Amino acid sequence: MSDARPPRGDDRRNSAPGAKPKSPAPPPPKPRRVPWIVAIVVVGLAVLVGGFFLWLGSAGGFSARAKPTGIEAFLARTMRSLALPSRASHRKNPYPSAPAALVTAGENFAAHCAICHNNNGDGKTTFGRNLYPHPPDLRGFTTQDKSDGDLYYTIRNGIRLSGMPAFPDDSPRRTWELVNFIRHLPKITPRELRQMRKYNPKTIFPAPLMPQSKPAAPAPAQMPPAHPGSPAPSKGRK
Ligand code: HEC
Repeated sequence: MSDARPPRGDDRRNSAPGAKPKSPAPPPPKPRRVPWIVAIVVVGLAVLVGGFFLWLGSAGGFSARAKPTGIEAFLARTMRSLALPSRASHRKNPYPSAPAALVTAGENFAAHCAICHNNNGDGKTTFGRNLYPHPPDLRGFTTQDKSDGDLYYTIRNGIRLSGMPAFPDDSPRRTWELVNFIRHLPKITPRELRQMRKYNPKTIFPAPLMPQSKPAAPAPAQMPPAHPGSPAPSKGRK
């Protein structure tokens, strides 16, 4: 079978000297060379990825408990403001802030937002403290300086790669009223905050801050003895 194979370059070299090849040898395939630009890109990427993981290690890994570095916070803010459609940003709030609507919005906020943002908007809850990035203090300049349209868009659409969920199912009116409520947060009264507590999910406060509804009656460590003087029943007894 192998005899049927046409002679290859090696066979010719081994054949008797002087024997003429029957047909011109095909040119040997050129070794493929990686263009230098590809090599530079690959090495560059490897250095970037390696650097990223080194930096990640030094910056606390993937832990959500670390504080974002200044650069990270700046980049995140810039990316978000760039990603916000300017049409959304310029939308006007069609609902003026009215006392009754503020009460309803406060209940809505207590039920759905305060678990992360806290009733007063400072973000100091178990969830808020342990999210990365943390929710900002909604009473502060960074939030209050945003347009109503920005806040509306943020609440409806959420914020990618963060703990801020989208709330697209509420009526537009309820969302605009939440925007009014966020505007009201810097001047919220202790009375309003107390009212909101009724609507909070149970997990909002870390254990030591949980409001104690009633002082619990001290539980007896053991069943009292049936008759004075007789030994207390032990667990194993039937
Ligand atoms: C599970 C936690 C969580 C819940 C629930 C939540 N948020 Fe947020 N929210 C966040 C986090 C975290 C951020 C910050 C995200 C960032 O900076 O990238 C944020 C950001 C925001 C911002 C942007 C503030 C700014 O300065 O840009 C607004 C407005 C906001 N939340 C409103 C709400 C409202 C209103 C609700 C309820 C309807 C709500 N959030 C529910 C976690 C939450």
